[in-house]
Amino acid sequence: MINENERGEALSPVGMFDSGVGGISVLREAVRLLPNERFIFYGDTKNAPYGTKTKEAVLALSRQVVKALLKRQCKAIVIACNTATSAAAADLRAEYPDLPIIAMEPALKPASLLHSDGVVLSLATPGTIAGEKYAHLYALYGKGVVSLPCPGLMEFVERGELDGPALNRYFETLFMPYRDKKVEAIVLGCTHYSFLKKSIAGFFPGVPLLDGNGGTVRQLRRRLEAQNLLAPAEAAGGVELLSSGGGEPVKTMQALLCAEL
Ligand code: DGL
Repeated sequence: MINENERGEALSPVGMFDSGVGGISVLREAVRLLPNERFIFYGDTKNAPYGTKTKEAVLALSRQVVKALLKRQCKAIVIACNTATSAAAADLRAEYPDLPIIAMEPALKPASLLHSDGVVLSLATPGTIAGEKYAHLYALYGKGVVSLPCPGLMEFVERGELDGPALNRYFETLFMPYRDKKVEAIVLGCTHYSFLKKSIAGFFPGVPLLDGNGGTVRQLRRRLEAQNLLAPAEAAGGVELLSSGGGEPVKTMQALLCAEL
């Protein structure tokens, strides 16, 4: 039985954040799977990138963002950022033990099912790849995995630049050593990179590109269900986009939310 308090809380928004616009790739899935939920998405563009900062700096920034989202009465938090997950998820969960905090990790586990005798390329930020969480994941599912830190790559997505000669040059350099290898899967371990699928697929036609977005949103649904926090079927869902960087990044977010990919 759901009581009145729970019904009120179920109508509260879900807070979601990233260092910038990349987490919109998670939000797109969330809106599709949970159309009755209200989402507040916060992109910390002013402080982006997170991926080249220290763990301590990313933890401090993540704390600030979560505080701001909780002021807006969010019933759950989705960390739509692999880097912030690695740096901050454990601390935030300890600091807010009653709050559902859903986080993400590079999809090495699903990729390991596709690995035989070739290689799996795992693209993520330098911070994610250097983190303890990734080392743990790699120890379990890292067979055949080549980890590729990608400083400077999220900035293309921040600029709304999802293709073009400069991006192609970036990928040519990054992928050069693997063009003749048997690449069995590519892990997109940063939420920004999901917006670059088309460009990456151009280098490796037919190779599966794995991000953790669907799994993260299904986990959000399970957590909300388990705590009687799912918005009722008659609730009107919606999206509110916020950025520490002002109006321009919000425009990019809006465009990415609706973009045909
Ligand atoms: N989108 C973020 C991630 O998933 C990181 C981008 C950055 O700020 O470096 O890791």
